[in-house]
Parts: sequence; structure tokens; C-alpha cells
Amino acid sequence: MENQQQSFQIVVADDSHLGFAQIICDEMAASAQARGTGIAKRTPEYIQSKMSEGKSVIAFNQDGIWAGFCYIETWGHGEYVANSGLIVAPIFRKSGLAKAIKKKIFELSRKTYPDSKVFGLTTGLAVMKINSELGYEPVTYSELTQDEAFWAGCKSCVNYEILMSKDRKNCMCTAMLYDPKDHYEPEETKQFFEENKNIFERLLRFKKWKLLKPFLKSPSSKNENETGSSGASKPKSLFHYFFNL
Ligand SMILES: CC(C)(COP(=O)(O)OP(=O)(O)OC[C@H]1O[C@@H](n2cnc3c(N)ncnc32)[C@H](O)[C@@H]1OP(=O)(O)O)[C@@H](O)C(=O)NCCC(=O)NCCS
Repeated sequence: MENQQQSFQIVVADDSHLGFAQIICDEMAASAQARGTGIAKRTPEYIQSKMSEGKSVIAFNQDGIWAGFCYIETWGHGEYVANSGLIVAPIFRKSGLAKAIKKKIFELSRKTYPDSKVFGLTTGLAVMKINSELGYEPVTYSELTQDEAFWAGCKSCVNYEILMSKDRKNCMCTAMLYDPKDHYEPEETKQFFEENKNIFERLLRFKKWKLLKPFLKSPSSKNENETGSSGASKPKSLFHYFFNL
């Protein structure tokens, strides 16, 4: 493929990159629409603030064409750091760029906030794979920051109603976390992902179906479903724990 010949430069963004904020925002919105998935909306001004603060990385191809972006957010007074807004320009996808960007933003996060837990939310298997290679593991939402400002960011996502209907315990996104004080080695999380990726893929599909179902059903059948699920609790599997289904 032609992209395999590309080489990229990935740098910590600064004021010299402010002019790229609009194209980054536009691509984020267009990609979310194309995938039919939810996304927390970002403004060009917000992206620019991340650039000015040294809390983002930006990628260009060898001809200086913008190729990708990702930024850092801090929550819970710095207890948590999120690597958010990962985007690769469509023409540069499937050439390992997202992996390289995530590695760079993870290193920047660890250097800037060495004691913070690093987390991310994703609806995609590609990002789950990349995160696994960095040492992240899947967790339930209860292990993420409870900072109200973080969850308020989900309000602009099309799936916000699902998140709230689940008392903020579950939604379309899968949560993954790296805890500097208590974590597996990247080799271990990578191996775990490789051994279970087919199951993860099925679970992502199942989760989408399960979470959307109440919103597609008539009110009467919804009540039936709710009554049925309030019976005696069954033993929970490992994946039940991960996905809080
Ligand atoms: C998701 C996205 C960032 C991936 O970027 P990319 O540069 O194509 O990803 P990479 O080439 O680094 O691929 C990383 C791995 O994921 C795999 N992958 C990439 N896209 C994939 C897809 N759609 N489905 C499954 N696996 C995928 C690759 O094969 C690669 O695996 P490998 O190491 O075995 O080769 C890009 O498609 C994108 O910007 N999408 C829109 C925005 C988005 O979804 N952002 C994530 C929000 S959490």
C-alpha cells in the first residue's frame, strides 16, 4: 500500500500549529459522522488551548501535510490524565500512524504527569489494540475519574442518553486505564488482547446491541425487560466485569 512508504514527523504541538485547529476539528466531526458513533465535540479554540499549553501532539507527513493529532486532559486535580481526541487524516490511515501518535502522547503524559492514572474511552477495536500495546487494561467506568467536568464532556455525544440511563456505569465506549502504581507490563496486556481480540470484537458488537435495545423497543416491551432483569443476581463473568453489561 502507498501509505507504507510514508514517513511522519510527530511533535509536541505549540503556537506555531494553531492554524491547524480547524482542520483537526472538522476531521474529528466528519469521522464520527462517517462511523455513526458518538463523540464529545471539540471547538477549534479548545484544540488551540491544548497546543499552546504543550498538551497535544501533531503529526505531518514528509511533505508537511497535516496527518494526525491527540491531546491530554487532566481530571480530578491531576489524579487522572486522559489521552483524547485521537484522529488520523483518512489518507494516512492503516499505516501505523495512530499507534505512533498514541505512543508519543502516552510518553508526554507520563513525563508531565508521572503519578497520574492514564485512561481513554473508545468504541473501536483499533484503539483497544493500540492501548493494550502500551500497557492499558480494560476497566469499568467506576475506576475512571468521577470528576463531573469530565463526564459533562459526554453531553455533546449522541450516546449521552445511554450513559445516563446506565447511571454512568456503562455506555458504548470501552474504558481502558494505565495505573503507574499498579499495572501489568505492556507485553502482558498486548498478549491478553491478542489472545482475546475475537471475544473483544464480539463483545463490542454485543454491547452496542444490548445498550441500544431499550431505545429501539416500545415502552411496554421495555418494562418487561426491566422487570425481567431485576431477578436474582447471576454469577458475573470476567467480561461482564470489564464491560459492566
Ligand atoms: C482509529 C484511527 C485513529 C486508527 O488510525 P490508523 O493510523 O489507521 O491506525 P494504525 O495504522 O496505527 O493501526 C493500529 C492497529 O489497529 C488496526 N486497525 C486500524 N484501523 C482498524 C479498524 N478500523 N478496525 C480494526 N483494526 C484496525 C491496524 O491494523 C493496526 O494493527 P496492527 O498493529 O496489527 O497492524 C483512525 O481510523 C481514525 O482517526 N478514526 C477516526 C477517529 C477515531 O475513531 N478516533 C479514535 C477515538 S477513541
